[in-house]
Amino acid sequence: MMKIAVLVSGNGSNLQAIIDAKVSGQIVGVISNKADAFALQRAEQAGIATAVIEHKDYPDRVSFDAVMHQKLLDWEVDLVILAGFMRILSPIFVNRWQGKMLNIHPSLLPNYKGMHTHQRVLNSGEVFHGCTVHFVTAELDAGPALAQSVLKVAQHDTAQSLAERIHQLEHFIYPLVVDWLCQGTLQYQTDGHVTFRGQALQRPIQFSQF
Ligand code: GAR
Repeated sequence: MMKIAVLVSGNGSNLQAIIDAKVSGQIVGVISNKADAFALQRAEQAGIATAVIEHKDYPDRVSFDAVMHQKLLDWEVDLVILAGFMRILSPIFVNRWQGKMLNIHPSLLPNYKGMHTHQRVLNSGEVFHGCTVHFVTAELDAGPALAQSVLKVAQHDTAQSLAERIHQLEHFIYPLVVDWLCQGTLQYQTDGHVTFRGQALQRPIQFSQF
């Protein structure tokens, strides 16, 4: 069974969704870069080991990442899940976990990389918005996209309502993609390509809410 670690910084509702979905892998630990992250309580409640590794205790990104890397090795992790982990990871760390690290991002990548996606989507008058699960590569929010879930922006939507609606979509697709990876339905090939049920994945698997 695949051993999974989840990296968090905050509320951890995606962590909760992955716990509740009982994916095929085993969540062996949760790492937070913030001691007060509610996600840590969720992990403890579920009987999962936790580690707090605070970035502010380290002089630079590389030394912070090295401590996280060692923790992941200690836990013998096969798959790293970023779930609201709000630190940029160093290329050296990302390359060590290439093809073994997923992120979820609150936009339809490649659109709206970075922060404050909901407000930026509203400001641009977009009709569609959504979330993307992707492999993490050294370039921020740019790794191969595996699945997306799309919603239609409503006239009365605010950044807050979009955040809530997107969370609902995330809680469905993230556990699903994690499960696909654990089962081998989705596979990362050494040349950087991804296969889904043995076929090259040309574009992310799309789900829509309408
Ligand atoms: C999620 O919406 C996730 O997409 C976003 O943070 C939220 C975490 O929520 N991630 C990013 O913005 C990464 N750049 P959660 O802590 O309740 O899972």
